[in-house]
Amino acid sequence: MGKDVIVACDFSSREAVLSFLDKFSGEARKPYVKIGMELFYSAGPEIVREIKRRGHSIFLDLKLCDIPNTVKKSMAVLRDLDVDMTNLHAFGTIEMMKAALEGLTRPDGTRPLLIAVTQLTSTSEQRMRDELLIDKPLPEVVMHYAKNALEAGLDGVVCSPLESPVVHGGCGAGFITVTPGVRFSDGNLGDQVRVTTPARARELGSDYIVVGRPITAAEDPVGAYRRCLAEFIG
Ligand code: C5P
Repeated sequence: MGKDVIVACDFSSREAVLSFLDKFSGEARKPYVKIGMELFYSAGPEIVREIKRRGHSIFLDLKLCDIPNTVKKSMAVLRDLDVDMTNLHAFGTIEMMKAALEGLTRPDGTRPLLIAVTQLTSTSEQRMRDELLIDKPLPEVVMHYAKNALEAGLDGVVCSPLESPVVHGGCGAGFITVTPGVRFSDGNLGDQVRVTTPARARELGSDYIVVGRPITAAEDPVGAYRRCLAEFIG
């Protein structure tokens, strides 16, 4: 399985994301691009096709969560966008995750990777207990949701790099961990709290790191991307 650096292209317009990607036109390795809700809701499915035509791999981060039939039908629409990876909330149950896989699978049996969000890293253990009435410790909940995703047949989870070792321990080395919360050792944390460097994420066994502002807001985005690749992949 290929390890890679996924660049979170959190822009709100087609023009902004394309002018950012233009900076990479001379690169031998085209960055793997994450398209999230902000860009998808503003620029629509056409921006996915356009970035794909430019030769980038795409992680479509829309975090679906609904009744199984709705998720299945929505995934059947997304599969025709020819992305490489997409995701949903494990919270939607094993039945929903299985339905999503069915919807995402093309008639020839191929499909994008399907990854589950366990608990959002913005959810604290206290809020989970007080607002969601989940009494278990957060790491146990994350691990349980990861095992549900594995049972449903998904390929992996989004988690912190710090959780990669336990997810691989419980679900197997082949179960993919896609990990945001990555910062350079001399970088700005922004609103991320539990962060690791690309080099540390590599040591912890992350399969893909998702890096946004350390690249998108850098003075030299191409240089920052190359530095991430060098630290994470070598
Ligand atoms: O700019 P930064 O590197 O913090 O961007 C991280 C990206 O990963 C953002 O697109 C954010 O929405 C996403 N993400 C995250 N934590 C999660 C899930 C997704 O930071 N638990």
